[in-house]
Amino acid sequence: MVADKKLTMESFDLLKKYDIPVPRYTSYPTVPVWNQTIDPTRWKKTFKDQFRISNQSNGISLYIHLPFCESLCTYCGCNKKITTNHNVEAEYIEAIIREWHMYCELMEEVPVIREIHLGGGTPTFFSPENLTWLINAILENSIIHAHANFSLEGHPNNTTREHLEALYQLGFRRISYGVQDNDPVVQKTINRIQPFENVKKATETAREIGFQSINFDLIYGLPHQTLESIKKTVRECISLAPDRFAFYSYAHVPWTSRGQRLFDENDLPDAALKMALYQEGKKVFIENNYQHLGMDHFVLRDDELFHAWEQGTLHRNFMGYTAQYTDLQLGLGVSAIGDAVHAFAQNAKSLHEYYERIQKNELPVEKGYFLSQEDEEFRKYIQDISCRGVTYFNNRHQDQLKEFTFPELEKLEQDGLVHFDDKHVQVTGTGRSFIRNICRAFDLHLLMKNSDSDKQRYSKAI
Ligand SMILES: C[S@@+](CC[C@H](N)C(=O)[O-])C[C@H]1O[C@@H](n2cnc3c(N)ncnc32)[C@H](O)[C@@H]1O
Ligand code: SF4
Repeated sequence: MVADKKLTMESFDLLKKYDIPVPRYTSYPTVPVWNQTIDPTRWKKTFKDQFRISNQSNGISLYIHLPFCESLCTYCGCNKKITTNHNVEAEYIEAIIREWHMYCELMEEVPVIREIHLGGGTPTFFSPENLTWLINAILENSIIHAHANFSLEGHPNNTTREHLEALYQLGFRRISYGVQDNDPVVQKTINRIQPFENVKKATETAREIGFQSINFDLIYGLPHQTLESIKKTVRECISLAPDRFAFYSYAHVPWTSRGQRLFDENDLPDAALKMALYQEGKKVFIENNYQHLGMDHFVLRDDELFHAWEQGTLHRNFMGYTAQYTDLQLGLGVSAIGDAVHAFAQNAKSLHEYYERIQKNELPVEKGYFLSQEDEEFRKYIQDISCRGVTYFNNRHQDQLKEFTFPELEKLEQDGLVHFDDKHVQVTGTGRSFIRNICRAFDLHLLMKNSDSDKQRYSKAI
């Protein structure tokens, strides 16, 4: 008992020490480092060249951003547009199809679609008929990969049986529901009234129809959350046995997400309580046989993400963890991000700008980044750490490793988060709760700059 208590105290101190502003490393280099403008001609060429390689090996992935939501959840940090006017659907889908056709012109062969992910906003804001129109238009002149994986983010309040049936017919087998928190006081404060009955029904209907994988998003650190309330939320959710949980740290970034100014900051849990909320949630997941993959994810043992983790084949991209790797990801829609291995590009973030560019028959890319060879090496280290918990150093860029990375790793090793020597670094069991901090040791852009402005850019690690 005494040993357990000591362990809890130590990990609590560690959580406190490492709760600093750190990127989430869904990309490396991270978005704030990218250039504010991108040369569209160079992006097209990079895309075209990479398409030739990727299409023949693994096929390509599509991320489609569907930004509309009927009401504003005040905590939300996503790119969304609040409206109750459903006439916006058709114009938006037409624009995405036009964008897709512009990319198709760059492809010298029929695209092989390995993954489609509908993100938002709220994809289920769109009617089943409009979603069918969109997906059919994309698949019309494409080949669907034999192991294709189609998924979407669904809002439990508005995902209907008709949505699920239509999407199932189109090949969707995975759904991620935004649950966030079940407590009525928390829900009222975040302006998201979502009876647990809705979550239950949406989950059961998806299963009945044949969806094979269900994820729930939960957030810790929301206003008015308590240890009791989070325990209750996590237990209730586990009673529905989703295959996966994303247990996100609430990212408080009111300077970019203005909705977060609509509740009283004093209602947010303080740093100590937020850490305790994380520990409490994690404890309940582990007690119920969910495996901690690191970076906010808990999965059942028979989930393919867990198999991929065990086999060392897990990957991470803008959509989160994935068991299937495609190196080319195309982002369609407002603010969507594309990854063509040697370059990233993000579409215009405002709908107005997005439509304007599409109307001019221009790719709506706005900002982006072309990776140097050094970036690609360090990106691989970061991918390895977040997906495999281990990485092996190669002979290149030894000076940068010695000057920037190794001193950071030494500090992490002293705290028991990694073991490392001059050949490799291995994340420890304790280190799994600190993956973002460990990735930071390879973030040359951040370490070289060593600036205070990160406080205004990134949310805290825990
Ligand atoms: C696009 S939303 C999910 C789909 C749908 N709109 C919904 O809300 O159910 C993606 C996820 O991002 C997470 N999220 C949004 N804002 C966040 C924030 N400020 N901090 C942490 N997670 C956040 C939520 O868990 C949410 O489910
Ligand atoms: S959490 Fe989902 S539903 Fe709520 S505003 Fe954000 S994207 Fe829209």
